Amino acid sequence: MIKKELIGLVPETKKYIVLNIGFQWLGLVVNIVMMYNIALLLAQMIAGTFSHELLLQVLVVCVGCILSRMILLYGANRMAYLSSKQVKDKLRKKIYQKLLHLQGRYEKILSTAQVVQVTNEGVEQLETYFGAYLPQFFYAILAPITLFVVFSFFDWTIGLVLLIGVWLIPVSIVLVQRWAKKLLSRYWDQYTTMGDTFLENLQGLTTLKIYQADEYRHQLMNKEAEKFRKITMKVLIMQLNSISIMDLVAYGGAALGMLIAIAHLQDGSLTLMQGILVILLAADFFLPMRTLGSFFHIAMNGMAASDKIFKILAAPDPAKGGLNFELGDYCLQDVSYSYDGEKKVLDEINVTFKSGELSAIVGESGSGKSTLAALLTKQLIDPQGDMIINGRLLKEIADNDFYAHVTYLSHQSYIFKGSVRDNLQLGNIAIDDKMMWEALEKVKLAAFLRQMDGLDTKLNEKGSNLSGGQQQRLALARALLADSDIYIFDEATSNIDVESEELIIKNIYQLAKIKMVIMISHRLANVVASDHIVVMEQGKIVEQGSHQELLAHDGCYKKLWEAQKALEDGEEDEA
Ligand SMILES: Nc1ncnc2c1ncn2[C@@H]1O[C@H](COP(=O)(O)OP(=O)(O)O)[C@@H](O)[C@H]1O
Ligand SMILES: [Mg+2]
Repeated sequence: MIKKELIGLVPETKKYIVLNIGFQWLGLVVNIVMMYNIALLLAQMIAGTFSHELLLQVLVVCVGCILSRMILLYGANRMAYLSSKQVKDKLRKKIYQKLLHLQGRYEKILSTAQVVQVTNEGVEQLETYFGAYLPQFFYAILAPITLFVVFSFFDWTIGLVLLIGVWLIPVSIVLVQRWAKKLLSRYWDQYTTMGDTFLENLQGLTTLKIYQADEYRHQLMNKEAEKFRKITMKVLIMQLNSISIMDLVAYGGAALGMLIAIAHLQDGSLTLMQGILVILLAADFFLPMRTLGSFFHIAMNGMAASDKIFKILAAPDPAKGGLNFELGDYCLQDVSYSYDGEKKVLDEINVTFKSGELSAIVGESGSGKSTLAALLTKQLIDPQGDMIINGRLLKEIADNDFYAHVTYLSHQSYIFKGSVRDNLQLGNIAIDDKMMWEALEKVKLAAFLRQMDGLDTKLNEKGSNLSGGQQQRLALARALLADSDIYIFDEATSNIDVESEELIIKNIYQLAKIKMVIMISHRLANVVASDHIVVMEQGKIVEQGSHQELLAHDGCYKKLWEAQKALEDGEEDEA
């Protein structure tokens, strides 16, 4: 019923939990004192030996007890608040930092919607675990034992019966838990599935509208929501049932204690005052455990969420070693990769990329080019085989050090909301305006931006107030300013206008004179002048060499080349 790992996650909360239990326990002691006084007064009233002094004394004690209980309750609540706060702060920070470390790779562990739900609601429910459940857990053990000790001064049999009765509550909780655990894990799965579907529909709304598939997806979404409603109801029913069982045990147990007290009163083994005290305190045996039971379900929910949090936190941290890169080689030895552990998307890749050279990777769609680029840029990790960069194993190089030397540009570069300057400084905060304008000249954006607000021109989210070609040219300027040692372009010129394409290709060739550049392109015309062309087919490298060498070889590359040439010549003829 307690997860040690979880406490280990936020050890700072321990002291608040201990103080919380302390306050609650003192509250119980104060309550016992008050009940003792009330029992005394009632017993004397019934016996007719009651005096005004006693009434006054009991009144004063009761007021004092009530006031101190209020203060103690405030203290316990305050401690609960402080430990919840710690949990929220620390846990969210830990998850966030882990996500930063993992970068885009977190999606291999949990989907974006899951991460959002777990860090919001999941953490919220864990707050109950630390703020309410854990302290209550210990208090619920401590309280009956304390009462048992008090009872044993005059009638230990009743104390023992009640003490045993109390344990029926956790037993019933444990019985319910077996069933609850499976149900809750299904509940969370369904919840996150619904979140995933929702997020996807939202992001793809334009596409859905265009294909008029929004209604259909709407129905699907409704189905998911209905499943979620059903499982939520099951969870609620389970919780209600278990609360009913706990109530039965708690109030039945207290009633049993009272009945025994009455019997003992009759046979004279208890005084009237003791009998009244037992009746007044019998319920207190059970109430803490009963409260624990009601926290238990929320805490269970939190624990189910914590499994997912642990999954994120348990992901291995990237390596820590540094990289001293001085224009060396990037070497792949027998590298294979599979997304699902079965189908090899890359198969025994052996290739060396050199600095000061332009290497091109070509091949039909689906041949594994982007997967290779993702491995080269550490977006995917742990392939089979060795990836060696300047004599060092890639997996031993820390991400931060690695990315200080590598820039990746795909056909969907992200332009952030903010100014042109903000976007350009992303790769290198140290650059000045002059350097920015130089880069903008190179990509032929300078004239356009001068008509606007220059470097302060405001850009929308995803750069949506620029054309596709302009976005890509801006992304290229940003990449050039990053001044990396290795540049990897994955179809950086697809989906844009011919003019922008030519401009970007020209810049890539310029860059390759001083850097290591790897360019993936489906247009062979763009790679003709590369120093080194790698031809891929179904995850394998089938040929490599210069354009002339490959044509002479009369293989796969030649076929591709002739097919594309015929297509483009045909287009020209038509024009
Ligand atoms: N995230 C992914 N999960 C599973 N399979 C993938 C993923 N990305 C790509 N693939 C598969 O890997 C193969 C190679 O894809 P990719 O490297 O993108 O090819 P290319 O860039 O040459 O078109 C394809 O068969 C594709 O279905
Ligand atoms: Mg691709």
